[in-house]
Parts: sequence; C-alpha cells; structure tokens
Amino acid sequence: MAPQFKYVLGIESSCDETAAAVLLDGHNVLSNVVASQVALHRPFGGVVPELAARQHIANIIPIVRESLYRAGIDLNDIQGIAVTKGPGLVGALLVGVQVAKAIALARSLPFIGVNHLEGHLCAPYLSDSSESPPERHLALLVSGGHTALFLVEGFGHYRRIGTTRDDAAGEAFDKVSKLLGLGYPGGPIVERLASKGRANAIHFPRALPGKTAFDFSFSGLKTAVAQVVKKEFGDRSRDKSHALDERLYDLCASFQQAVADVLVEKTVRAAEHLHVDTIVASGGVLANKALRRQLEQHAADRQLRVILSPLAYCTDNAAMIAAAGARRLELGERSDMTLNAVARLPLTPPAPLPRR
Ligand code: KG4
Ligand code: ZN
Repeated sequence: MAPQFKYVLGIESSCDETAAAVLLDGHNVLSNVVASQVALHRPFGGVVPELAARQHIANIIPIVRESLYRAGIDLNDIQGIAVTKGPGLVGALLVGVQVAKAIALARSLPFIGVNHLEGHLCAPYLSDSSESPPERHLALLVSGGHTALFLVEGFGHYRRIGTTRDDAAGEAFDKVSKLLGLGYPGGPIVERLASKGRANAIHFPRALPGKTAFDFSFSGLKTAVAQVVKKEFGDRSRDKSHALDERLYDLCASFQQAVADVLVEKTVRAAEHLHVDTIVASGGVLANKALRRQLEQHAADRQLRVILSPLAYCTDNAAMIAAAGARRLELGERSDMTLNAVARLPLTPPAPLPRR
C-alpha cells in the first residue's frame, strides 16, 4: 500500500544542531539540512544550553525553508510534521517543538513528537542504507548521551538489554579530547589523530563484566587515560605550545581501540546470546570509521549480518526524526497542541533479558 504521508517534514533541535529534512514515502531523503553550532560552543569546551536555544531560534526558520527548497517543494506539499520532543536540552527542544506546532496549526497538518533515540534507530532505514534492517534485530545505539543495546522486535517494540553505567561512549571521546586540550566535539578530533597512531601502543582497561550482562562502563577507561595524560603530557589544556607528537597519536589510537573493543565484543556477545542474526548500529559515534570496520569484521567472523547507519545520518539530523515520525504518523499516531519538550525520555524501561 502506498504511504499516506508522501512528504514529511522533520525538525530536530535537541542539542547543538538545528536541522530540518524532507522525506518522500518515509525513507527517501529529499533534503537533509544541518546547521552545526560547534563554532559557537567551542570556546566553552562543550554545549552551553542557553546559547544553544538562542541559536536555534535564529536558525530554525531559514533551515526549514532551506530543507523545502532543496527538496524542490513548498509547505503546501507537506502532509505531516515530525519533531524531536526529547531527550535533550529543554530550551533547545522547545524551539523545534513550537515551530512544528506553529506550522501544523497554520496549515492544519498532523504532527508527531518523536523520541530522539527512536530517530537514531531509524537512521539505517533511510534511502542511502545498504539494505533495510529486518523487523527483529539487535540495535546498538552509541551517541554523546547514550550507549545502549536494544532487542528490536518490530518498529516501536524495543527491549533495552544493556546500557552504560556511567559515561556514554561519545562522552568518553569528548572528555578525552578535553583532557588533551584538543577541543569539542571530541570524536572526530580523536579519530583524526588516532589514524596516525598505533592502537596497541598503550594498554587501556576494557570493562567487560560478565558474559551474559550487556551493560557498558567507560569511566574506568577515562580515568586510565587521565593518568597517562597527567604523567606524560602535563597540562596540555594550558600549554598549547606542545607539538602534536607520536605519543599523542598512540594515545588516541589506543583509547579508540579500547572503546571499539568493548562496544563490538558486547554487541556480538548479545546477538549470540539472544540468537539474533542481524546487528543494526547507529548514533554519532558510528561516524567513527575504525569502529565501523571492526564491527563489520567481527560480526562477519561470527556469521552475523551488520547494517550500519549511513555516515550522513550518524550524528544528529532531522532525516532520522522524519523517518521515525513518518512511521508513527502512518500508524495513526498524532500529537496535539499540548506537546511539550522532555529532558529525560527513555525509549523503554529496562527489561529482563528474554529467555532463550
Ligand atoms: O548522535 P550525536 O550527534 O548526538 C547525541 O545524540 O548525543 O552524537 C554526538 C557524539 C559526540 O560525543 C561526538 O564526539 C561523537 O558522537 N562522535 C564521534 C565521531 N563523530 C561524532 N565519536 C567518535 N568518532 C567520530 N568520528
Ligand atoms: Zn543524537
């Protein structure tokens, strides 16, 4: 059956990206516009919520306009709107939510508030994906705020089987980058330096508690990195005259390898434990090429299929929000004018592992 919602507009403003996108038939990306605020927050070493909200206000209308323009359509063509309602920074989220409501009200359009995490899980269904994930799969979600494993049994049916007990993997990249005085966001910076170093140069701990427990922990790794930094690098954050040296490359490569080892090992173990033959992975940290390679390689060694979020849709974007929203709209779900932003919004409550 042809989708009822041919053109869906997606809006995302949960953190430091103002984004809008237009999808055709729920998965073809006609446009995907992202205005990053990295330069604005860089001097502060991280996202300043108040500044983020104000910048979203300035950006959002031009970004929505641009997404329509690039899609070659105008507002009259749009049949539904999807907007991130949480989790995220409330002031930032409210900007997207209110703009979505205003457009919906002015045009009498249906709209839906989307969980940002469900958006990430839907990124691998977008048009540039190598293949569409099967209904039942194991989803690895790795972003700046979340690191979790979900057993997915069809759209909207998520059972969280593991999460981080402390830092998210992206957060670990960001903190290590900050320790080294390298800037924010840490992931791409650390990855670039890591590509010049040796991944086995420094041994960092891998927290892999229990063969059948699927929680993650990255704070021990962060502490171990901090100790090496203190011992060998002094205070780089103040002393910017240090030339980037071989040891720094090795440190980044060794840290990145430790994160990838834990993520890949836990994910493959969980898939085998649950007898799931497909792993689907998404989130900002999946932009890391070493992690992508390692996940593909290890899964292939164990006869598991892997579907990765296309690179363009790993970090925050509105195409993934539109994909999740389009599916919910097709199912008849609607938000109303009381829709509010929510800072903490779990995708599912923690659930016991299903019996094998
Ligand atoms: O999904 P995302 O854009 O935002 C959240 O929902 O959190 O993820 C952002 C996180 C940041 O922590 C950033 O450092 C990390 O993803 N990240 C990366 C890479 N690109 C972004 N981490 C490792 N390698 C990368 N290439
Ligand atoms: Zn995100």
